[in-house]
Parts: sequence; structure tokens; C-alpha cells
Amino acid sequence: AYLPLFFIVAGYLLGSLPFAIITTRLFGMADPRSYGSGNPGATNVLRSGNKLAAVLTLLGDAVKGWLAVWLAQHFGAEAANPTTIAAVGFAALLGHVFPVFIGFKGGKGVATAAGVFLGFSGLLALACIGVWLAVAVITRYSSLAAICAALAAPLFGWWLLDVPQAVALAGMSLLVIWRHQQNIRNLLAGTESRIGRKKPA
Ligand code: G3P
Repeated sequence: AYLPLFFIVAGYLLGSLPFAIITTRLFGMADPRSYGSGNPGATNVLRSGNKLAAVLTLLGDAVKGWLAVWLAQHFGAEAANPTTIAAVGFAALLGHVFPVFIGFKGGKGVATAAGVFLGFSGLLALACIGVWLAVAVITRYSSLAAICAALAAPLFGWWLLDVPQAVALAGMSLLVIWRHQQNIRNLLAGTESRIGRKKPA
């Protein structure tokens, strides 16, 4: 009875690892919470100009989401059922957004959601990353790409996932969009900064 809870807590703790903070500290860089959007995420780390640090942040934040789901799928025994897997994925995203290690003030959840989606279904992740890339290439807005991918994700999930995971995915999309409130305001005001640019343009 405690096994599902173990994987859910493990997922939350893994999700709580803030790779934007870990990477920038390892590189001796400024804390990403002190510049740009102030968000501890890959997009904002890129505003420092250090592309490697941004890529490592993206990979770390995505892999932790995928790993949380994978661990439950492979070592979960009777806990490796769709409802528990769905809860583990959601817990990993909650960890990233409300991380216990840095005062519950985390990121917007885009990379971690992508990792969890990959754990749920390779096709789902591919479809969402496709939407993100298309919007990002066309508009150069990371936030708009994430919002579009989050809006499209439940449609893909409806076709590709079982009910518990589709429900978790819809919740994750809502959480990601909710975390982009400031970006939405900036987009509407025309002050949102484009990918890789330090100042709004
Ligand atoms: O991944 C978060 C991204 O969608 C927006 O980040 O720093 O531009 O608010 P940021």
C-alpha cells in the first residue's frame, strides 16, 4: 500500500532538483533568479549568454521528469499501474514548480513536463516538442511555444494515453500555462523577450 506513495514522493523530490540553480552554481555564474525573467529555467539561463549552461539546465530538468516516471514503470512492481504512473509524473512537475529545496519557488515546468510526457509516451513527447519547435522557430518566443504546446498536449494525450495519464497531462498543461501569467501579459503588451536576447525586443 505504501509503494505508490514511495514513487510519488521520489518523483516530487527528483522534480525539486532545480537544474538552473545547480548548473549555474557549478559554472560559477550569477543566479538566474537575479536577471531576465527571474525564472530558474533553461530559457532564462540562456539570457546569461552561456548556451552550454542553458542546454544542461534543459536536459537536467527534462531528464528528472522522465526518470521519475521511468523508475516507477520499471521498479514499481504492483505500483506500476496507470494511476500511480500518472501521479508520479504530476508529482515530478509539482516538485519543479514548488521545489522543497529552494523555498517552494521553482520554475514554469516546460522542460520537466516534456520529460514526464516522454515517460508517458514517446509519440506524445515528439508531438509536443514538434509544436514547441514550430512556434519557437517562427516567433522566437519560448513562452508562446510552451503555451501552444501545453494547449495541444491534452489533444494528443486524449488519443495516445490511458485515462489517468490523460487527466494528469491535462492538469500539467494547466499548471504550465498558469505559471506563464507574466509571459502572457508581456506577450500582449509586446514586451516579451525573444529567445537568446537579453533585453526585450
Ligand atoms: O520555459 C519557460 C519559458 O516558457 C519562459 O521562460 O524565462 O522567458 O519566462 P521565461
